[in-house]
Amino acid sequence: MEKLVIQGGRRLSGTVKASGSKNSALPLMAASLLGDSGEIKLSRIPDLKDIRTFRKLLDYLGAATSYSDNNLSISTSDIRCARAPYELVKQMRASIYVLGPLLARFGRASVSLPGGCAFGPRPIDLHLMAMEKLGACVTIEKGFIEARAQGARLKGATIDFPITTVGATGNTLMAAVLAEGKTTIRNAAVEPEIATLCRFLNAMGGDIRGIGTTTLEISGVESLNAAEFTNIFDRIEAATLLTAGAITGSSITVTDVDPTHLAAVLGKFEETGCKIITDSGAVTLQSPDTLTRTDVIANPFPLFPTDMQAQWIALMTQAEGTSHVIDKIYHERFNHIPELNRLGAHIEIRNNEATVRGPGKLTGTTVMSTDLRASASLVLAGLVAEGVTEVFRIYHLDRGYERIEQKLNSLGAVITRESYQEFA
Ligand code: UD1
Repeated sequence: MEKLVIQGGRRLSGTVKASGSKNSALPLMAASLLGDSGEIKLSRIPDLKDIRTFRKLLDYLGAATSYSDNNLSISTSDIRCARAPYELVKQMRASIYVLGPLLARFGRASVSLPGGCAFGPRPIDLHLMAMEKLGACVTIEKGFIEARAQGARLKGATIDFPITTVGATGNTLMAAVLAEGKTTIRNAAVEPEIATLCRFLNAMGGDIRGIGTTTLEISGVESLNAAEFTNIFDRIEAATLLTAGAITGSSITVTDVDPTHLAAVLGKFEETGCKIITDSGAVTLQSPDTLTRTDVIANPFPLFPTDMQAQWIALMTQAEGTSHVIDKIYHERFNHIPELNRLGAHIEIRNNEATVRGPGKLTGTTVMSTDLRASASLVLAGLVAEGVTEVFRIYHLDRGYERIEQKLNSLGAVITRESYQEFA
């Protein structure tokens, strides 16, 4: 296994680029299953473990894929199988995204249930509810979701989500785009990754209106074509890099960013006293002498993202005063807290609310990654901790951050990647 070894206490400076968005790339790859001819060309696809796993899943289903320099080509004309096996699905919950496209294109899909998860229950009932509304018969058999369209095609319907769900909105879009007739999705997620998926489906020949709003109107088409499409930048990676600047009291610039995707996070940085300068495609963060405590509540877009909550808690360990962090998307997503406390942070959890008492001196030690964003928060804490912090099990981090240590080192951090053996 690999670990990151971080020499803490370095100021950062300079400019670094964000990569393409992982959370957008995965549904785009799933949507490619809908095209029955030609070659789909996706650019700005990050080189990440999750992308490689999803590519394996596409290959398993019978797609032909090739990848170089962040460009991914996918040909799905020869797909011969509509079954996503446990071995691949268990590695990545986003595999559930193949349900909608396989069902829409082949009239049937068999997708393994994703299994365990690092932060609380992550149900898929709303994905299944939407498939049923579109006319599918859905059962769970031997650990697999078995879905079958009742006629030759799915049928358009009105789907009203009781809560905002990115995953189920995406799956429903990919199923409805080939359904017969019109589908309306009410209370649709408005995350940039959903708007991007809509644009890609339209580029393939789909007919989706209301993009970026909570009501999406989809007029089903009979088939979709190949398309060329450029993915969006990774707003969470960009925000994580900016947090690296803020936690080390530095001034840095992150380019290849869409600042409109980051408004809530940038507003919170300003509340801490950081100066934020946005330019088209770049954000500069200038740290204050002392960070001010700032509460956050993670909520659906355009509010503060759940994917930045762990990094924010790390930042608040260095802010003056007591701050409170609540996650309304995943109430129990707090695996990072015991590990941050092992570095010397003072964080308590009560009734799904984290209370962070800062500023406190962090001291390097060995810590364990438990999930993707939790790992990012440990790396951030390691940047400011005195001495050496070793972050173990960084395969979680590698799921979602492209060359993170190289990017941080280019700003002046001192991080090495080393192999180690875990005790049995
Ligand atoms: C969520 C985040 C997304 C983030 C991702 C990974 C939101 C709205 N979504 O997306 O930004 O990138 O985690 O960290 O911030 N739910 C159900 N039944 C379902 C589906 C979801 O009850 O069938 C619930 C979930 O438990 C959760 C909420 O709905 O409380 C939002 O879930 P959803 O957006 O679908 O989760 P992800 O797609 O994982």
